[in-house]
Amino acid sequence: MIVLGIESSCDETALALVRDGRHCITSKVASSVEKQAVFGGVVPEVAAREHLTSLVPLFEELIAESNFRNKDIDAIAVTRGPGLIGSLLVGISFAKSLSLMLDKPLIPVDHVHAHLHGALLGLEADANNIFPAIGLVVSGGHTNIYFMKNEVEFEKLAGTIDDACGECFDKVGKTLGLPYPGGPQIEKIAREGDPAKYSMPVMVQEKKRLEFSYSGLKTHVLNTFRKVQRDTTDPAQIELEKAHIASAFQEEAFGHIVRKLRSSLLIRPDAKSVLIAGGVAANLRFRQMLTSSIGKRILFPELTYCSDNGAMIAALGYYLYESEDDKSCFHNSQWEPYSRHDFKSD
Ligand code: KG4
Ligand code: ZN
Repeated sequence: MIVLGIESSCDETALALVRDGRHCITSKVASSVEKQAVFGGVVPEVAAREHLTSLVPLFEELIAESNFRNKDIDAIAVTRGPGLIGSLLVGISFAKSLSLMLDKPLIPVDHVHAHLHGALLGLEADANNIFPAIGLVVSGGHTNIYFMKNEVEFEKLAGTIDDACGECFDKVGKTLGLPYPGGPQIEKIAREGDPAKYSMPVMVQEKKRLEFSYSGLKTHVLNTFRKVQRDTTDPAQIELEKAHIASAFQEEAFGHIVRKLRSSLLIRPDAKSVLIAGGVAANLRFRQMLTSSIGKRILFPELTYCSDNGAMIAALGYYLYESEDDKSCFHNSQWEPYSRHDFKSD
């Protein structure tokens, strides 16, 4: 079964054709991140306008590159939420129109759940060795841990009470004067730093509290860097101190996740594997820390499937379609998107 995945929840317009939920045929991403960088973050209206101009040409490119015809698409999966409402409306309107035009099923998909399918893309269907699983999504908007009974059942075990991990990287990046998005920049400069040079607060230490919190760490970095700026005028020295701060920050940002993953595995010892997903999963230091401290099979996405993409939407869409006995629900377009704040299923 060939599913077209459509993603437009934030600053990436992304489309992909995926066969049987695991095999990506073609994936295309148009990012507005360079336009957003001027503002130091995502401006919702800029993002929505970019989706509107990118979507149709991107779809035409996708079809041309894959040597498929429109009628080869068996179903259309689209991000329903959470996300920026204007951006979601553009992608969903496009998906609903395509579904009507081609007379194909339309599958609404949760963006955060779909991220976890990024870690399954390319695998053969050896579900017996994967589920039940613990799923971790670490992105710009979410830091969530799920217990996944199978590909479509997600029980949320933990989330953040303030900033998401990626959001914190972006804000710390801004504090340190790095370009947006801060995550990859912090990873880069942290390699030159000594993580022991600055101490960082240990967030949510209680093992039983399955919650993330990043705002204290963010504020600590701000105060630490302000002190450096007060004490030092030498630009080279400031750059070096930045690297030390970035390195110490990164260790605690990820240490926090490692601790909460371990706690989740204690309460769900039947989990056979741990799926890691979201933009932050691209960080190599993070991958190293997880590999050395989680005594379970860990599945990481390929780097192209860490950040927002259409393949993960098509992948979850396929499994949602397969798991439903009555397929008539996929011929109903009477549903609305949900934004980050009225996120119902989580
Ligand atoms: O999943 P994603 O592309 O979009 C959302 O759904 O939010 O995640 C984007 C986030 C940004 O906050 C970005 O700074 C972070 O992922 N990120 C990283 C790295 N690459 C991207 N954070 C840390 N290290 C990285 N290498
Ligand atoms: Zn995402």
